[in-house]
Amino acid sequence: MAYYVRKGNIPPKRHTQFRQPDGSLYAEELVSSLGFSGIYSNLYHINPPTRVKEIKKSVAYGAKPDKDLPLQQIHLNTSGVKNTGSDFLDSRKVLLMNDDVSMALCMPSRQSMDYYYKNAEADELLFIHDGSGYMYSQFGKLKIQAGDYVVIPRTTIYKLEWDTSEIRYLVMESASPIETVSRYRNELGQLLEHSPYCERDIHPPQEMITEESKGDYHVKIKKGGYIHHYVYDHSPFDLVGWDGFLYPYTLSIHDFEPITGRIHQPPPVHQTFQAAGYVICSFVPRLFDYHPDAIPAPYNHSNIDSDEVLYYVEGNFMSRKGIDRGSFTLHPGGLPHGPHPGTVEKSIGAKETEELAVMLDTFKPLFATEEGKEFMDKKYPMSWTE
Ligand SMILES: [Fe+2]
Repeated sequence: MAYYVRKGNIPPKRHTQFRQPDGSLYAEELVSSLGFSGIYSNLYHINPPTRVKEIKKSVAYGAKPDKDLPLQQIHLNTSGVKNTGSDFLDSRKVLLMNDDVSMALCMPSRQSMDYYYKNAEADELLFIHDGSGYMYSQFGKLKIQAGDYVVIPRTTIYKLEWDTSEIRYLVMESASPIETVSRYRNELGQLLEHSPYCERDIHPPQEMITEESKGDYHVKIKKGGYIHHYVYDHSPFDLVGWDGFLYPYTLSIHDFEPITGRIHQPPPVHQTFQAAGYVICSFVPRLFDYHPDAIPAPYNHSNIDSDEVLYYVEGNFMSRKGIDRGSFTLHPGGLPHGPHPGTVEKSIGAKETEELAVMLDTFKPLFATEEGKEFMDKKYPMSWTE
């Protein structure tokens, strides 16, 4: 992550003796990315993190892309969905995917988890649409609420506890690390003045949690198309402290400051995160273009080398008809997309928009999954024809 954080108790120097009250050593764990070349943190455990009690049978888990769908504009309407399953893992319905990233809708009916979870192969980016609660991890307790992006580096062991019954969030699973936008960082990593958000908007875990009791602690580990079931005799949240640059954090979409102009600004001004093979953008309430002859609605656009997904969060989407709160549209590379009939003239003279949307732009084609196809609006490809 973008800056150094230190929580709890740690020794003054790394890789030196750090003793528990009974005289035994704390177990140090270095969690590093990109081998030893990326960001990392040092964690201090009461118990060795390697001490496994039992490994149970692995269970197949994961979605498959349908690569045989004809090339078309896609609208997945999930606005009427009440829940997508009971539990954290079975409610995770992957709708769109490629090798770099997948996008899932999660609406669990259960508010808490009786196990811990670790994604061992992908960073995760949650976007909280409805609901609030806490994310608990080795790094501590992190408040989450509607509008938050939650960036979770791979191998973070966590659980979510909701304090609302209405829960709707997205999960993007990323094959590469999810980062702040490099053009908004100076050479030492600080976010620059023209960045739409700064370090004050980035929230690491607020407080440490140290679970010392013994018992059976179940960690479900996602890797290679399976959930692997590990049992430990101690809690994975047995840390007394940690420091470093690698940790989960939140950034609220409501803290993203829009960049506006005299004429229509292109999507890169909305960019919020980067990763290998895709970007994430935020469309937030903003003033429209102020040239006297400006057209606020976007122009027709041919993305020749990317697929564009928009997830509609709140507000009125001025360039689209038939789109609801909770709709996903996928405008694939190779086809032009643009405003629906009548929306261009209607946009002229408008001063501002209240729209809120999350965009995922991938460079490789995205595919709908079997679960995604269940939400397809079959009329959408023809919806530009009056
Ligand atoms: Fe576009």
